[in-house]
Amino acid sequence: MQQPDEVATDARQRLRPAGIAFGGDYNPEQWPEEVWAEDVALMKEAGVSLVTAGIFSWAKVEPRPGEFDFAWSDRVMDNLAGAGVAVCLATMTASPPPWLSRLHPEILPETADGRRMWPGGRQHYCPSSGVYRRYATRLVEQLATRYADHPALEMWHIGNEYGCHTPMCWCDGSAADFRRWLSDRYGDIGALNDAWSTAFWSQGYDSFDEVLPPRLAPTFPNPGQQLDFARFSDDALLQCYLAEKEVLRRITPDVPVTTNFIGVHKPVDAFRWAAEQDVVSVDVYQDPHDHDTHIAAGFIFDVTRSARGGRPWMLMEQAPSAVNWRDRNGPKPPGRMRLWSWQAIAQGADAVLYFQWRQSRGGAEKYHSAMLPHGGTETRTFREVRELGRELASVPQIAGARSTAEVALVLDWNSWWALELDSHPSTALDQMNIALAHYRPLFEAGITCDVVPPDRDLSGYRLVVVPNLYLIRERDAERLTDFVRGGGHLLVSFFSGVVDECDRVHPGGYPAPLREVLGLHVEEFWPPAERETVNVRHRDGTVSGADLWSEVVVPESAETVAVFDSGALTGQPAVTRHAFGEGSAWYVATRLAPRAMRNLMDEVRDTAGVGPVVTGLPEQVQATVREGDGGRFVFLLNHGREQVEVGLPEPMSDLLTQGTAPSDRIRLPGAGVAVLSTPWTRHTKGQR
Ligand code: GLA
Repeated sequence: MQQPDEVATDARQRLRPAGIAFGGDYNPEQWPEEVWAEDVALMKEAGVSLVTAGIFSWAKVEPRPGEFDFAWSDRVMDNLAGAGVAVCLATMTASPPPWLSRLHPEILPETADGRRMWPGGRQHYCPSSGVYRRYATRLVEQLATRYADHPALEMWHIGNEYGCHTPMCWCDGSAADFRRWLSDRYGDIGALNDAWSTAFWSQGYDSFDEVLPPRLAPTFPNPGQQLDFARFSDDALLQCYLAEKEVLRRITPDVPVTTNFIGVHKPVDAFRWAAEQDVVSVDVYQDPHDHDTHIAAGFIFDVTRSARGGRPWMLMEQAPSAVNWRDRNGPKPPGRMRLWSWQAIAQGADAVLYFQWRQSRGGAEKYHSAMLPHGGTETRTFREVRELGRELASVPQIAGARSTAEVALVLDWNSWWALELDSHPSTALDQMNIALAHYRPLFEAGITCDVVPPDRDLSGYRLVVVPNLYLIRERDAERLTDFVRGGGHLLVSFFSGVVDECDRVHPGGYPAPLREVLGLHVEEFWPPAERETVNVRHRDGTVSGADLWSEVVVPESAETVAVFDSGALTGQPAVTRHAFGEGSAWYVATRLAPRAMRNLMDEVRDTAGVGPVVTGLPEQVQATVREGDGGRFVFLLNHGREQVEVGLPEPMSDLLTQGTAPSDRIRLPGAGVAVLSTPWTRHTKGQR
C-alpha cells in the first residue's frame, strides 16, 4: 500500500497544465496595472498555459522589514486564474531588497581576495548567511500561507538560478560554515590533515579553528581544500534551496517544487539537486551565432532528462530571440526558436517557457528579447511565439512520453571540480569541452544518450562512454569493471581514474582502479604544447590529427587500435581495445580530431550493437523517440539551413502538418521539424 507521502509524491510529479506547458517569466511589477489586463488577453492569444511569476518581487511584497504587501500579487494571481493561466510561483528570494543589506551588511558575499560584492545587481547574498536564510524563509512562509489554496498556484519555483552570480563566498561567515561542514565530514582534524595531504608545505592543522576557505594565497592553495570548498559551496546553495523547500512542503505538501538550473553549471551538481526536486527545470540560451549551439544544448537537455531518471522536465527559460548578455547578441533567425523549442521536447521536455513575457522598458535586460517585444504584437517574434503556442496545443498527447537510451555518458561533478584545479600536467583540460567531444559523435549519429553520474545503475545500457573521470571512487571503478565483465562496452578517455575523492593519486600506477578493465597502464602524461598537434595512425592506415593531450600507454592485455604517428610518442598506442569478460573496454589517450572521433565512436557503437533511431540520417538532422500512453513519437529536426529528405522504414504522417498523406520520405526545410506518430520500433543491431 502506498504511504501518504508517496501519494503526495506521485501527485507532485505531474505537470498539471494539460499537454506541453507554454509560457514564460511574468514580471508584472515592472508595469502599471493598466497593462495587466492586456497581458492576460495576449497570453491567451499566444497560447500561454503557465507563467512563472514573482522571481524578483521581494522588494515589492516586503517593502520594509516584516511589512508584507500582497494586495498587488493577489490581483496578479486572480487575473491569471481568471484567464486559466497556471502559475509556477517564485519564492521571490533571488534578489534581496536594499533594506536587508542595509540592516545586515554581513549578508553580502566576498570574493577570494576579500572584496565585498555590493547590492545593485542581484543575487548579492552569501549562501551560508543564516540571516539571509532567516529572512528568506520568513517571506516564503508568508507566501505559501497566502497562496496555498489559490487556484492559479500549480508549482513553486524556489530561488532562481542558484549559483549564477554568487556560486561561492569567502567571507568570515562562510569560513565559519566551512569549518562546521568540515568537522561534520571528517570528525577530527587528523582525518582532514590526511585527506588534504597537509604534510606537504607545512600545512598541518592543529584544530578546525585554523582552517579557512581557499582565499587568495601566494601560490596554489591546497588542492584538497579547494575540492572540499567546491563541495561545500554547492552544499551551501543547496541548503538555501532546502530551507525554502522545507517551508513549502509543510504548508503546501501537494504542490510540486522546482528550481531552474543554468544549463550544466559547474558550481551546482545537478544530479544531487535533482533528487530534491519534483520536476527538474533548466534554462538554456542557444547562441544563434554558434553553428554548433544545438549540440551543446542537446547535451544539457540530456543531462536534465537523466537527472531524474528520464522523467519529463521543463525548459524554464530560453530567449524568444536575442539575449543581452553576450558580446554580440544575434537574434534567432526565423524558425530557429521553434526548432530549438521542439529540440527540448524531442529530448524529453514537457514545458517550453521563456525569459520573459513582456520586454522590459528599463533595467539591465531591456534589450533581452521577450515573447511580447517592445514593438508589440505586430512583430516577427510575437507571431512566431503565437504560432508555436498554437502548434504545441495541437499535440497534447506527447506530454508524459519518455525516451530510452542504450548509451550512457558519465559525468561527475566531483571529478569536474578536481580536474580543473590548478597545478596539473595541463591547465587546458576543460570538462565540458571533453564531454562534448564525446557527445557530438553520438548526437550526430542520431543516438539517444543518457548522461549519468558514475554511481548510477548501468545495467540497462549497452555502451558507457567516460570522456574523462580524473577522480574516481574505487566502488565506481568496480561498477564499470563489472559492467564490461557482464557484456557491456566501455569507452574511457585520457587522464581518467587517476585520483581518489581527496585528489590523492591512486596507488598502483595510473589508472589503478581501471587497469584491470582497460588492460593497460599509463606510465607518463605528455601534454603537447599549446596549439601543437600530433598525428594518429589508425588500423586501416588512415592518419588523423589529435591535440590537447597524450600519454605513454603500456598495454598489458589490451590490443593497440591506433598509434601516435608523430612527435615524441611516435609508434606508441593512442587508442586501445581490451576484450574483457563478455564485453570490451576501449581507451583513448589523446583528443582525436572530430572526424576520427566519429569513426571511432561508430566502431565502438557497432561492437555494442547500438544503432540510430533512423538509419541514413542526413547531416544536421537530429532524430529522437519518445514513447508513452499517448503513443510513440519520432522527432526529426533539421538543424541545417538547406532542405533535406529523410527516408523512413514505412509510410508515416507528420502530426504537425495534419492532413498530409503518409509517406516514406519526409521533406524537412532548413530549421524544419516533423513529429511522426508511429508504432514502429527502433532499429537496433544485434543483441548484447
Ligand atoms: C537568467 C535569469 C533571468 C534572466 C535571463 C536572461 O536565465 O534567470 O532572470 O536574467 O537569464 O537571459
